[in-house]
Amino acid sequence: MSVFSHPDFDGHEAVHAFHDEASGLRAFIAVHNTNRGPASGGTRFWSYATDADALTDALRLSRAMSYKNAVARLGIGGGKGVIMRPAGEFDREAMFRAYGRAVNDVAGTYVTAEDVGVSPADMVTIKTQTDFVAGLPDTSGDPSPVTADGVFRGIKVALRHAFGSDMLEGRSVAVQGLGHVGYALAEHLANAGASLVVADINDAVLERTKSELGARVVATDAIHAQPVDVFAPCALGGAVNAKTLPSITATVIAGAANNQLATPVMAEHVARAGKLYAPDYVINAGGIINVDAELRGPYDPEWVRGKLDELEETLDEVFTRAAHEGVTTTEIAEEIGRARLAERRDWR
Ligand SMILES: NC(=O)c1ccc[n+]([C@@H]2O[C@H](COP(=O)([O-])OP(=O)(O)OC[C@H]3O[C@@H](n4cnc5c(N)ncnc54)[C@H](O)[C@@H]3O)[C@@H](O)[C@H]2O)c1
Repeated sequence: MSVFSHPDFDGHEAVHAFHDEASGLRAFIAVHNTNRGPASGGTRFWSYATDADALTDALRLSRAMSYKNAVARLGIGGGKGVIMRPAGEFDREAMFRAYGRAVNDVAGTYVTAEDVGVSPADMVTIKTQTDFVAGLPDTSGDPSPVTADGVFRGIKVALRHAFGSDMLEGRSVAVQGLGHVGYALAEHLANAGASLVVADINDAVLERTKSELGARVVATDAIHAQPVDVFAPCALGGAVNAKTLPSITATVIAGAANNQLATPVMAEHVARAGKLYAPDYVINAGGIINVDAELRGPYDPEWVRGKLDELEETLDEVFTRAAHEGVTTTEIAEEIGRARLAERRDWR
């Protein structure tokens, strides 16, 4: 397993691998870019088939965090933690304590928070070992509701560009994944009058979404192919791939998941298919905006709301320029990201 010749290595500043025998911890922390500030991005706790898969995830997700944080003009760089979930029994607290020591060893070049499979309670465990942690319950808390708010606002911007109106009444949305972000997004959409089709692997959350939000439930392998206006991937990455794209009928693809396009070339296929894609790291920045608000301190909800307004403006610029310049929305987002990543700050 190589790092420097790995296809997803993108000039990362550091890639750390950690092992703790007592707790069984196996983790990667990838620091992609710290021009704007200490690298920040959540920690993912997930079952990976191989450590190579976990490394790939860390490399790709940390790069996306650099672009996400730069596009949102935050005072943080891009990084990501990935913990490989063990197959059998394990002591969760011991594992997150060991991970907290790993974060501490990276000495402030990386600040962690929640991502898939990790809760604010885990952040409390990490906090026993290091100060380089955000998303704590007694400060900004779970960033997911803010992510959902940003994605909801972003879907409205996309609707305006695709259909000339951001009204959700009469519109239909397929939400893939009803976790921390997906469920909160589904609530926003239902409250605004959209009809929902949903899928998840968790039956309890499907029941709740059906009874509380009147959503129609479909199989996980059919959600992308629903005849809807918007497809909102809110589970894991790669929802838009060579196999799924031909059956995606939605005009708009806009959701919370990181790395929604399985490969970069999918951006061109999506555009050629006449679909409007909201680049994931632009539309899903709400959570990290909330984390940055906590790191800046004291936490100011007004500042967060202002940043979400900026998120809408950036997305509007991405869609407008992509249409005028005849390029993909991803190309415009990358261009904006590259320019803002180059804005160095002397934070060390
Ligand atoms: N939490 C945040 O603030 C935040 C911020 C930015 C991006 N994201 C991204 O948004 C996505 C969701 O994050 P989350 O915090 O809600 O995670 P989560 O773990 O709470 O939710 C993920 C949900 O997806 C479901 N799921 C898993 N596999 C599925 C499948 N094949 N089909 C349908 N559903 C499936 C799970 O059962 C779960 O309900 C992730 O990609 C994450 O990286 C989250």
